[in-house]
Order: sequence, then C-alpha cells, then structure tokens
Amino acid sequence: MTSIRAAVLRSAGAPTAIERLELAAPRAGEVRVRILASGVCHSDLHVRDGDWPRPMPIAMGHEGAGVVDAIGPGVRTLSIGQPVALSWLVPCGVCRSCRADRVWACPDSPSFRHRMPDGASVLAGSDGVSVLSYCGIATMAEATVVPEAAAIALPDGVDPAVAALIGCCVTTGVGAVLKTAAMPRGASVAVIGLGGVGLSCVMGAALAGASRIVALDRLSAKLEAARAVGATDGLIAGDDHAATVEALRELTDGGPDFVFEAIGRVDTVELAIESLPLGGTAVLVGMTPFEARASFGVYPLVDGSRRILGSNYGFADPATDFPRYAALHLAGQLPADRLIDRRIGLDDLEGAFDRLRSGEGLRQVVVFDQAPPPGP
Ligand SMILES: NC(=O)c1ccc[n+]([C@@H]2O[C@H](COP(=O)([O-])OP(=O)(O)OC[C@H]3O[C@@H](n4cnc5c(N)ncnc54)[C@H](O)[C@@H]3O)[C@@H](O)[C@H]2O)c1
Ligand SMILES: [Zn+2]
Ligand SMILES: [Zn+2]
Repeated sequence: MTSIRAAVLRSAGAPTAIERLELAAPRAGEVRVRILASGVCHSDLHVRDGDWPRPMPIAMGHEGAGVVDAIGPGVRTLSIGQPVALSWLVPCGVCRSCRADRVWACPDSPSFRHRMPDGASVLAGSDGVSVLSYCGIATMAEATVVPEAAAIALPDGVDPAVAALIGCCVTTGVGAVLKTAAMPRGASVAVIGLGGVGLSCVMGAALAGASRIVALDRLSAKLEAARAVGATDGLIAGDDHAATVEALRELTDGGPDFVFEAIGRVDTVELAIESLPLGGTAVLVGMTPFEARASFGVYPLVDGSRRILGSNYGFADPATDFPRYAALHLAGQLPADRLIDRRIGLDDLEGAFDRLRSGEGLRQVVVFDQAPPPGP
C-alpha cells in the first residue's frame, strides 16, 4: 500500500475533493506509475458536472503521463524508470471490434468499468471503502496502478505535460484527421471548437498538408492559438449560423472538404453538416450529453455524397500511435506544447474546471512534484 493524494468525485455536480487514498501494490500484469502531469480535458468536466452518469466514488483524470516506479510479476514490456503515457482504453481483445483491429471501437473495455480487468479496484479511502479509477487509470493522483497494456512506453525527452496530452487530446484530434478522416493532402479544412481537442485537429490538418485550415470558436483568443499551430484563417462562430456558413463557404471556395466538430454541441454538429460542399465530410469528435440528438437534411446528404463520421479516441491503437505522435512532436511536426497555457497544482483543479467551463485559456495541466510520494 502507498498513501497518495488524488482528486475524488463522490457525487456528480458536486466539487471534487483532494483526498488521501491508499493505493495497492501492483499485482501480476500491473504497473505502478508515478504521475508527473495530468491534463484537464472537457470529458473530465462532463463527468464532474454529471453530463455522463458514472459510478462513484471515483478518482478522476484520464489524460496523464509519468514514470513506471513499480512492476508486478509477469510484466515484460516495461521496466522501472520508463516514461509512459496512459491510455484510457485497454481493448478487451476478444470482441468483434478488437478482432477486426478496431480497438478504439471496443465496447467491452475494462477501462469503462473503471476497474482492473479482473474487476479489482486498486484505490481505497481512509474508511477502507473502494474508490474507482476513472477509465482504469485515475491520472489526477500522485500515483496510479494500471494494467500493463494501459502504460505506453514513450521515447526519452518528451515533456511530461506533452506526454499527458498524447494520452487524450492530441491522439483524439490528430487521429481524427490522420486516421478517421484519412485526409488527403491539399484538402480544405474547418475545425469548430478550439480547446485541446480542436487545436489538435488543427495540428493534424497542418501535418497532413491541408491547403487551408479555418479555425472557428466563439472566443477570439482561441483563433490566435489556432494560428500558432497551423490554422490559416480564423472565424468567430456566433449565434448566427447562416452567417457563419456563408463566411466559411467564402473562405473555402464553397465549403471545406473536411469539417471537424470538437465541442460536442447539437447546434455546432448541425453547423458542421450544413457547411459541407458536395462530397464533403463532417467528422464528429466532440461528445454531447448522452441523450442529445441532431438533425440534418437527408436529401442533400445523399444527393451530394456527403459523409458524417464519428471518431472515438482518434481511431487510436495507443501502443503504436502514442510513440508515433511523440516522435512527431520531438521532430517539431506536432507543436503540442503550444496547447498548454497553464500548469497548476492538484489543489487548483476546481478552479481549472471553472476556467474550462467559461472557455478561458488553453489546455491546463496538473503537474506533480518530481519527488516520489510518501509511503513504502
Ligand atoms: N471523441 C473522443 O474520443 C473525445 C476525446 C476527448 C474529448 N472529447 C470531447 O471533445 C470535446 C472538446 O474537448 P476539449 O477538452 O477540447 O474542450 P474545451 O472546453 O477545451 O474546448 C471547447 C472549445 O469550444 C468552444 N466553444 C464552446 N461553445 C462554442 C460555440 N457555441 N461555438 C463555437 N465555439 C464554442 C470553446 O470556447 C472552447 O474553445 C468535449 O466534448 C470532450 O468531451 C472527445
Ligand atoms: Zn479527454
Ligand atoms: Zn474489444
């Protein structure tokens, strides 16, 4: 057992609390990771605010990175001291999606039960009662115990804050462009919503050789951030969607070949589909509350051979895609460091959620002391 501090949600809609928890030692096939950085993703806010029902109590965080500091029996791919980014999806390996090599579409991942694959939970409160680990990795904590398959080895030299972002927003956004859309060079692109996920779509589009990248947000500061990672144009998306569609068509010779929706709002999903030219593709990356439904004109979609694609986790196979994105970052081709504008302590997590709710700032990253947590 190790005593650690972690952000725990005990009731949806109520603040998270920084609690001291007991973390079990890694068992067979598990590793303990000392967390160095954990990004604050809007998906954490969806959980915190109760948009998506989740079992509780639960230790938060799914966008994290650190260093392996203990290994259980039988672990072969990792050793102590290895820098890793954590994957929020460990494929079950046997379902129809996994058998078809579409691990990002696995519906039966143990990660979604917020436990280890055998159903065990590795955290407990001071009362001895189990606390779940969000997506099986609980990264907003000084340390975590995860299945070996969730800890993906990265090359040396990646800033832990960037490594954390590779764990969710970078992989989600870059993968939506490179893998889900498989976007050809020279295509025109629009990205609606410029948080960590949308800015990663912009980076991915620049890497893929888009001819034009129009970045849209309701806040002008976000347009500047998008230009810094490769956008060619910025557009404020106000409440008048007809005007936005018109402006987007003017900038892209009749509409963008690919539109990425990276907010998760019904009205901007509809805006994305509405703005498509003949043969255009809308890639939906933002996540709505569970029950949300959107509508679109069926005739123009079919008649114009338009497409709508859903993209979970950027169609990632984390074991191969995380190191690839890390290498591209180290080679200067994915400037993921520019997504980060604030490094905070764990005690400021609720403040970070407030800023994220208001749209203020770019990606916020909780950083942890480099020293190991207390305890044996
Ligand atoms: N598909 C996946 O696998 C996956 C993975 C991670 C996150 N997500 C989802 O992606 C979405 C974005 O996550 P994020 O962390 O980048 O969020 P974020 O809150 O940092 O970014 C959202 C951006 O949208 C802008 N915005 C909000 N309302 C707007 C409007 N009406 N018009 C224009 N712009 C508007 C905000 O100003 C902000 O810049 C969330 O729904 C999150 O849950 C999906
Ligand atoms: Zn996320
Ligand atoms: Zn599966």
